[in-house]
Amino acid sequence: TRHLLGIKDINLNDIELIFETADNFKEVINRPIKKVPSLRDITIANIFFENSTRTKLSFELAEKRLSADVVNFAASSSSVSKGETLIDTVNNILAMKVDMVVMRHPYAGAGQFLSRHINAQIVNAGDGAHEHPTQALLDAFSIREKLGDVAGKKVVIVGDILHSRVAISNILCLQKLGAEVMVCGPTTLIPKHIAALGVKVEHDLMKALNWCDVANMLRIQLERMDIKYFPTGREYSMMYGLNKQILDSLDKEIVVMHPGPINRGVEITSDVADSKQSIILNQVENGVAVRMAVLYLLASQNDK
Ligand code: CP
Repeated sequence: TRHLLGIKDINLNDIELIFETADNFKEVINRPIKKVPSLRDITIANIFFENSTRTKLSFELAEKRLSADVVNFAASSSSVSKGETLIDTVNNILAMKVDMVVMRHPYAGAGQFLSRHINAQIVNAGDGAHEHPTQALLDAFSIREKLGDVAGKKVVIVGDILHSRVAISNILCLQKLGAEVMVCGPTTLIPKHIAALGVKVEHDLMKALNWCDVANMLRIQLERMDIKYFPTGREYSMMYGLNKQILDSLDKEIVVMHPGPINRGVEITSDVADSKQSIILNQVENGVAVRMAVLYLLASQNDK
């Protein structure tokens, strides 16, 4: 594939190739000299129409460690505020001889739309509630690193599935790798069609945690919440929040994940997020190597 728009467009072989390539890059970035010349002739624009800490910095570091030239664009400080369209914005950036675009956008399908109208490779860094493919890849890579393999593992994704591009991409990626996937949360935050993806649906957190090897605790997207998504806040944390007491009551040591940013004390307490069972910062660390692999493999398919 010329672009990475979603996990739905790639297969098991692609994911395994990304992981093997990321293994090599992880070694590179742990050396005192963290840089390789692989993308020396490539220029990449990171265009973000939505806020980001991890994804934006992780892509930028991945690009720099591959020796690409990098430009960053934040919609909030751009001429988008003067009414410039997405296609005009990106075509103007491409006129400056940019080869690849990494884009985050609040609308589902924005990357797909752009790929039909512009002549550059596109990597989706999160589009609305649709997909966040590199997050799913780094999450699965982190499970593989921690547990040796993803195949056969039981992974529960807990929380706001309804608004979550991370959940959709994780489900698709984990299933392609042979994991069993469950989603857990209140009925108001689990879309009815999710069962059609072949995931188990559980509304009882204790049952879900007793079933799983890995619990991925999603952020409650407070900015998208109103009364119809009850429970939120304190009620949510009482029913679906993971705390140390719950974790210690399980009869096995599960792995705890979170894509960030965390609402500490809502979906997860600090004593869990910062515990030895948490691989949250490993996920962030692995994001750079996985994104280096994605960019490198896409660039190697370009004529250039
Ligand atoms: N996990 C994630 O996408 O975080 P950011 O929104 O900070 O990039």
